[in-house]
Amino acid sequence: LAGQTSVRPVSGRLDCQEEDGAMEAETYWKGTGSRTRRRVLFAPSLLGADPLCVGAAIDGLGGRYDWLHLDIMDGHFVRNLSFGTAMARALRRRYPDAFIDAHLMVDRLDVLLPLFVDAEVSLITVHAETEPQLLHAALSSIRRSGLRAGVAMGPATGVERVRPVLEIADLVLVMSVTPGFGGQSLIEATLERSRDLVRLRAAEGHRYLIQMDGGINEENVGRVALAGCDVVVTGSAVFQSPDPGAFLESMRVKVKEALDDA
Ligand code: DX5
Ligand code: ZN
Repeated sequence: LAGQTSVRPVSGRLDCQEEDGAMEAETYWKGTGSRTRRRVLFAPSLLGADPLCVGAAIDGLGGRYDWLHLDIMDGHFVRNLSFGTAMARALRRRYPDAFIDAHLMVDRLDVLLPLFVDAEVSLITVHAETEPQLLHAALSSIRRSGLRAGVAMGPATGVERVRPVLEIADLVLVMSVTPGFGGQSLIEATLERSRDLVRLRAAEGHRYLIQMDGGINEENVGRVALAGCDVVVTGSAVFQSPDPGAFLESMRVKVKEALDDA
């Protein structure tokens, strides 16, 4: 897989300390952060932006994001096409310090993983459904390349499927919609999956962050945070709002209110 690629000093790599979102995540990943005062990170999904103006859409966030979430779809693993390595490389060039979170919804990890490692993204998440027997090798290979490694589960996939890789996962992505398209409604039952992962993390001493992706908006983000989600992905809700930067701030307020009331 991607093990042959050399490690370069890019923000969001394993030793990163300089960027807010990555630093906040570091406290979780090192197990030193206080879990009593949780901070939820926000990762706007660029799939929700106007594809002709992605750079302007990012700039329109006014720096109020933690990570940039980049969906990679191959038209085979999911029934849609989205971004490729050229976009990942262009993002890295223009935003050298950004934490770029690449969500791979693809088959052929043998071909594609090394390309995304070379594109210098910060984290690569692969789906548990892709090639179950290669899942451990894929995550190990990503980490050996100096990047963070995530495992994603579709809404119909149970926690048992990801269990063999939980000890090496930096992140577990719970899809809250069917992978492939933005603009769908959150499937409420997936919140239970996040709660299961919180319990497992505590019981078994794992260090992964829990990410949820799909259909998250101002109405449900509080419930998503209460279910234990550490990293909220939001595509259409943020980019269709008239002021995406202010929208992210209002999402943070909703999260704070929900956690304070709990
Ligand atoms: C769907 C993607 C999501 C998508 C989320 O397969 O993984 O990241 O962009 O978009 P919304 O927030 O519109 O559901
Ligand atoms: Zn995604």
